[in-house]
Amino acid sequence: MNDFLLNQPRIELAHLPTPLEPLPRLSAELGGPEIWIKRDDCTGLGFGGNKTRKLEFLLGAAREQGVDTIITLGGVQSNHARQTAAACARLGMTCQLVLPQVVARSGVDYDQNGNILLDRLFGAQVFVVADEAAVRAELERLTHAAASENRKVAIHPPGGSTAIGSLGYVAAAFEIQKQLQHRDLAFDQVVLAASTGGTLAGLAAGSQLASWNTAFYAACVAGDAAKMQSDLDALLAELGNITDVPSAAAESIVLDDAFLGDAYGLPSPAALEAIELCSTLEGILLDPVYTGKAMAALIDMVRRKRSDAEKILFWHTGGAPSLFAYREDLRKA
Ligand SMILES: Cc1ncc(COP(=O)(O)O)c(C=O)c1O
Repeated sequence: MNDFLLNQPRIELAHLPTPLEPLPRLSAELGGPEIWIKRDDCTGLGFGGNKTRKLEFLLGAAREQGVDTIITLGGVQSNHARQTAAACARLGMTCQLVLPQVVARSGVDYDQNGNILLDRLFGAQVFVVADEAAVRAELERLTHAAASENRKVAIHPPGGSTAIGSLGYVAAAFEIQKQLQHRDLAFDQVVLAASTGGTLAGLAAGSQLASWNTAFYAACVAGDAAKMQSDLDALLAELGNITDVPSAAAESIVLDDAFLGDAYGLPSPAALEAIELCSTLEGILLDPVYTGKAMAALIDMVRRKRSDAEKILFWHTGGAPSLFAYREDLRKA
């Protein structure tokens, strides 16, 4: 890892390195290139996922600044909220989660099971609010209350996607580069889900710093590719400022919103098929919001021969706890 990363405040939270494994039965089923998987669903903390890598740096910075209360945002079934709650429990910090009802979903499974059940188990204070306007009011109320109690607050954006959070994935690029060298392996393409873009930005910037030569194909699961592009550009610029990454990082990225389905948080038939294929062929759990849609993109790419890659890496970013919130959709699948 480079000196800049080594000098950043960081708290060890994740089980690293995460495994890098082949998916032989899925590859055979699709009859295409070799497909491998990077298991960031196995980062360990509170059922794992990609946010744990970001939280190592976000909470490292927070602790250095004397912060004792983390407030963060996300949908009702936010994986980021759940991993933040677990990390705060581990560090003895107060965790306040403001969760707007941004997905057109309700019912006992969605509102009480999956991630939100775990948020509460980890001792987080959970505030479900109607919309973005209510988020602002709630944030104001919580920051006032903290000030009156002399608590020091850090507010983390959805997905923990600041440049500091993305450093978790800059470090992940160094991690996989080492694994690839060790096994004498290379991938032409990395496929992953992108929502706030922090994971993708970190990996792309990290691939430049670690001299890991690959291309990224990101399935946009939270909105259209144009919005993703502008969020990504902003993050890459910020990361460039702190790490000196050449702006060329952006050139290795394709953004595709064709697998979003009806909207963020609503399962698509292709995502449900991807979930079923990976669970029945490889014993691997994807989720209907993020990784199911990204795997649907990969499957389509292979079936339609849209890629000439000989080896593809699927970067699993976690999310399986939300399966329990989507029980009805999965039963039908
Ligand atoms: C399971 C899962 N995969 C992928 C993502 C997308 O990561 P990012 O927000 O860094 O683009 C998220 C973020 O919420 C997630 O929870």
